[in-house]
Amino acid sequence: MPTRYSRTLAALHWLLALMIIGALFGGKVLLDGTPNDDPAKLFSLSMHMPLGLTILALMILRLVVRMRSAKPPHADIGNAILNKAGVWAHWVLYALVFVMCLSGIVMARGAGLPDIVFGGSGAPLPEVFSGPARLVHGITSTTLIVLIIGHIGAAVYHQYVRKDGLLARMSLRR
Ligand code: HEM
Ligand code: HEM
Repeated sequence: MPTRYSRTLAALHWLLALMIIGALFGGKVLLDGTPNDDPAKLFSLSMHMPLGLTILALMILRLVVRMRSAKPPHADIGNAILNKAGVWAHWVLYALVFVMCLSGIVMARGAGLPDIVFGGSGAPLPEVFSGPARLVHGITSTTLIVLIIGHIGAAVYHQYVRKDGLLARMSLRR
């Protein structure tokens, strides 16, 4: 069994981490709370939507690579329940990112955004984006932020308290 993740998985992990944090930042800071008649919103959406779709494509690639390549055994934190929680946390991270992408697509299609943002239709954005997909996108984004903070906390705990060199398992250097 390998002692670290493959270079491809590590590269996808760090690239996606940057992109997902960027999408969360853009969503919370530039989109949520900006009125839809503000011209800056159209520009932010023209960045956010392709970024979200690229995240979806890379997440599918990552999932396929992960299923097909050998990976190290799950890290041991010295407690059976916490070990299980760690395994689940990784799957929940995957799931929440997929829910973000899918709810974003449903919301955007429902509001006719592909035509407005990229089709040059010149139509104004709807007054607000509402509906279940908007609600799911908002609630899931906050849940994802909390889980990512926990994930980073766990990595720091491994690295600096348990000193088990966990970060090296996700390193790009060989
Ligand atoms: C958007 C942010 C992030 C997401 C969605 C994320 C997701 C994941 C997932 C799903 C795994 C399991 C391995 C896999 O299946 O690919 C993982 C592993 C890992 N992540 Fe992250 N990650 C994020 C950011 C970070 C950051 C900022 C750090 C640095 C502190 C970090 C450190 C690690 C480490 C060290 C591992 C390896 C854990 C092990 O060996 O079991 N991650 N991450
Ligand atoms: C991992 C991928 C994604 C992340 C992390 C993300 C993140 C976010 C966040 C944090 C918000 C603000 C939500 C709130 O605080 O209530 C937001 C808003 C939004 N997202 Fe995403 N998003 C992603 C993918 C997508 C995709 C693929 C689309 C469409 C193709 C999309 C369309 C939108 C739209 C239209 C809004 C504006 C909602 C409003 O202002 O009322 N998102 N996104």
